Amino acid sequence: MTKMLGAGEPPTVLLLIEAEVLCEPEARTQEAVDLDRPLRGCFVTGTDTEVGKTVITAGLLHALARQGLRVAGYKPVAAGAVWQAAASGPGGHWHNDDVEALLAASNIALTHSEVCPCLLEEACAPHLAARLEGGRIEPAVLIAGAHRLMRRCDALVVEGVGGFCVPLVETDVPNADDAAQDAAASPATDTGWGADDLAVALDLPVILVVGLRLGCINHALLTAEAVTARGLRLAGWVANRIEPTMPHAQLNIDTLSRALQQRHDAPLLGVVSHHAPATPARVADELRSDAVIDALGLQD
Ligand SMILES: Nc1ncnc2c1ncn2[C@@H]1O[C@H](COP(=O)(O)OP(=O)(O)OP(=O)(O)O)[C@@H](O)[C@H]1O
Ligand SMILES: [Mg+2]
Repeated sequence: MTKMLGAGEPPTVLLLIEAEVLCEPEARTQEAVDLDRPLRGCFVTGTDTEVGKTVITAGLLHALARQGLRVAGYKPVAAGAVWQAAASGPGGHWHNDDVEALLAASNIALTHSEVCPCLLEEACAPHLAARLEGGRIEPAVLIAGAHRLMRRCDALVVEGVGGFCVPLVETDVPNADDAAQDAAASPATDTGWGADDLAVALDLPVILVVGLRLGCINHALLTAEAVTARGLRLAGWVANRIEPTMPHAQLNIDTLSRALQQRHDAPLLGVVSHHAPATPARVADELRSDAVIDALGLQD
């Protein structure tokens, strides 16, 4: 079922009303936005899932806010939500860690559904989570949500979903009942629209988070190729020490620094240490704020 963050009761209604479209109802019904107005900010992608995109996105928001900018975090699609009943009385809300982190790191007042217009219950690949919930993700909602936030801030920091090429929409959604019985057994479907297409639609410069672990050089170079092959600008990258004891971490950073600078003109925007916890302020301290502002063209 689709999550209505901040709603007063568990969200069973949307599924009944709108089985074809998984998104926040209020996000669909708000006034039209000017999609031609360019967005400012960045699209944060990563070498994989769980490499620190949320941690770095929150750090970037914090760093930009320190520079006096009004900033908003945006997580177009999040998969994995837990219902939290209200402490007293009826109702509650659907909780997702990424949404909470970006909401907290933004310095303008935002609602949960503004930060994330499409929250799915299952913590799995989004197109599969959507299939399991009997519908499909609506690209127009994700794109409009970004433009709607942009009207209220100076910079939008969008956290991607999974890795750069993760599918979001299938061209052929199987029967919801079949999918609910056994998603794995459903017929293979062509994947029609993904996180890379979302990045193209938003047309923001991309920041690549490299989770430093064995294999990250290959993943980083492949992701950088995919970003530039889609006509997007790789504005820079962040080395994130997700594994505190990774051997030869600095040598990996050196190799990637040279390759990404030479091949994509993409500078290293910071090396983030392993922190416990990795708060936005600590991450921001290790980001090169001036270089970030410069790379994103946010000087004026
Ligand atoms: N620099 C760091 N120091 C310590 N822990 C970190 C660091 N970066 C990330 N982590 C931890 O690693 C885990 C994954 O980070 P995060 O949630 O930011 O990844 P993600 O790429 O956003 O994942 P997803 O694809 O699920 O959105 C989290 O538990 C986070 O706290
Ligand atoms: Mg995340």
